[in-house]
Amino acid sequence: MQFDQELALQELFEFLRMPSVSADSAYQAGMQQAVQFLQTKLTRLGFKAEVRPTEGHPVVYAERLTAPGKPTVMIYGHYDVQPEAPLEEWRTPPFEPTIVDGRIYARGSTDDKGQLYAHVKGIETLLQQNGELPVNIKILFEGEEEIGSPNLAKYLEAHSAELKADVILISDGSRFSADTPSITYGLRGLSYIEVHVQGASRDLHSGAYGGAVPNPINVLCEMIAQLKDDQGRVTIPGFYDGIQELTEQEREMWNTLPFDEGQWGASIGIDQFPGEAGYSVLERIWARPTLDVNGIWGGYQGEGAKTVIAAKAGAKISMRLVPGQDPNRITELALKHIPTLAPEGVKVHAFEHHGGDPFVVDLNSPYVKAANRALQRVYNKDAVFIRTGGSIPIAATFTRIVGAPILFVDMGLDIDAPHSPNESFAVQDYLNGILTSAYVLDELGRL
Ligand code: BES
Ligand code: MN
Ligand code: MN
Repeated sequence: MQFDQELALQELFEFLRMPSVSADSAYQAGMQQAVQFLQTKLTRLGFKAEVRPTEGHPVVYAERLTAPGKPTVMIYGHYDVQPEAPLEEWRTPPFEPTIVDGRIYARGSTDDKGQLYAHVKGIETLLQQNGELPVNIKILFEGEEEIGSPNLAKYLEAHSAELKADVILISDGSRFSADTPSITYGLRGLSYIEVHVQGASRDLHSGAYGGAVPNPINVLCEMIAQLKDDQGRVTIPGFYDGIQELTEQEREMWNTLPFDEGQWGASIGIDQFPGEAGYSVLERIWARPTLDVNGIWGGYQGEGAKTVIAAKAGAKISMRLVPGQDPNRITELALKHIPTLAPEGVKVHAFEHHGGDPFVVDLNSPYVKAANRALQRVYNKDAVFIRTGGSIPIAATFTRIVGAPILFVDMGLDIDAPHSPNESFAVQDYLNGILTSAYVLDELGRL
């Protein structure tokens, strides 16, 4: 299948130059540019494409239903990206895509603008080749995935009739490895909370008061330290209740994957793998829940030293969840338990940010087999079946409202460094992604 590679890169670069950061209202203009860009492009491809408001950032909804009797495929992606901070860590500007050693460096290059746009170009390639599409296509590109999709469920409920499809196609994650195509069949869920500890009514001289007053930072650290035991298990009562253990069959399947712990660690500069006892690295990431502090603040953060006892300290804590765990219940358990860990003399305020359901897909579906045939056409290899530790909070709601299973055909790699400074997407992965999209749609059209 042929397409103009140079043009495909140019168009993606134009899209990546639009700073579509959903978390920060200073980027309104970038969000607006991105939806306009997508609407214009999809309209040119013969879609009925609209920018639709939500209570937050708009969605782009488009459809081209010109293949009677063929399946209807819903393609989901997100045009919003994570904030670029810390800017000083970027070797090239985050919103000026730059190719270095065969990789496109830019915020959103892999998560998710590059993967989203590979589908747009895959569709275009099919149209150029055949003049028609092999399936009916509906497209929903949202702008709030990176902030937990707070308004999308409401939008979906309100538009459920037009969203019906036979299968949902999503590319918003990582392949198993550079030379192994994969189909992702599970995501972890998420519960994200924040905890504040208040001590004195103002910051104090650490000499004049230290030793005789509660120190909120020390207290917070002691509380956090109690949230996991020496076996790496989360200590929140009830946290593991009802969890679906991974099956022997999955365990065996994962054991045969060509996964090299040492190499994996080396790519991120570590050589020790602490975690829950009794589980391999892949099992811990893909099938076990965990709790991590994602940010912590309090006291003096500036240059040099300042002798001070802060009045207040805080931590942002994410819990990744697996099938059997309900994010609302886990959030409740955490918010109830954490304040009980505080000593007398401080005030604790714990509250929720957002959550999302864990998710697994049935591997025995004709859609999965079709995707495998498509990947064989691109890579000349069978796909492996993997799960991922990341989350797409809307996935469970989406599958319910669309009334169809999700097919996760990821195009990126973890080493693309999504969410980090110097996020990138290999040029080859983008080009293969375009082919993958075209072949997956083609194979779905043969069902
Ligand atoms: N594309 C990721 C999800 C992902 C990450 C899939 C890694 C596969 C591997 C998505 O954009 C994301 O970052 N999700 C957030 C959800 C959060 C912001 C509510 C996540 O997992 O942290
Ligand atoms: Mn993403
Ligand atoms: Mn992301």
